[in-house]
Amino acid sequence: MRKPFIIANWKMNKNVHESVDFVRAIKEKLPANKEIGIAAQAVSLYNMKKVAGASNLQIIAQNAAAELEGPYTGEISMRSLADAGVTYVMLGHLERRRLFNESNTAINQKVLAALKAGIVPIICTDEEMVQTEVNGKIHYVFQQLKSVLRDVPVNKLSQIVISYEPSWAVGSSHQANPEIAEEGCQAIRQSLADTYNNDIADKMRILYGGSVNPHNIYQIMSKPNVDGALIGRASLDIDSFLQMINYVE
Ligand code: G3H
Repeated sequence: MRKPFIIANWKMNKNVHESVDFVRAIKEKLPANKEIGIAAQAVSLYNMKKVAGASNLQIIAQNAAAELEGPYTGEISMRSLADAGVTYVMLGHLERRRLFNESNTAINQKVLAALKAGIVPIICTDEEMVQTEVNGKIHYVFQQLKSVLRDVPVNKLSQIVISYEPSWAVGSSHQANPEIAEEGCQAIRQSLADTYNNDIADKMRILYGGSVNPHNIYQIMSKPNVDGALIGRASLDIDSFLQMINYVE
């Protein structure tokens, strides 16, 4: 079965000391039946890992370069992230696509670089990547998702994580909608089954992101195709994050 995966995406919040203090406060309180991760600014990751120690907290990068080393001033390599204890990297988040014009081709190169460095990609999709409207009706389309997964060896696919984050729900005052979360995650899983096979689609974890909080996480996580949550604002507060990783009805 797919292990639930709850991720805090702190975006460009919390300095090194705040990040380390947060890890120190939660590391003994992580539930064993879920995978828990924090995506923080790159400068904090090494120290967070040192404090997390042998706990099962996953230390996650929010982005990295497509090249593993070389003359790329200002970039951060997946190889260095792996050495710092990073196990996952988020790629193609909506904010990176919108604000930094990241293309599907660039994200695909980063996915391949992550796998070479031994880091698992968390590929972020939004409705622009997986939906189109024809005559007022929403259809799911997957060419973009497929282009991001181009050349990924089939035996590496099942470890890759996908997130579905409708742009209207990200950082907004809209309530996250469990039905929409399920519909998007289910459609992505069906596309993976059609493109690859049922076994791969059954193994890959698909997360929902967008206005998840302690009040709605249980309903969202109750949906059969939602394997986890990618949480922005509500993950910045320790109590709120602890409530969400231990969500109950
Ligand atoms: O990566 C997280 C998403 O961008 C959601 O952010 O929970 O603040 O809406 P949010």
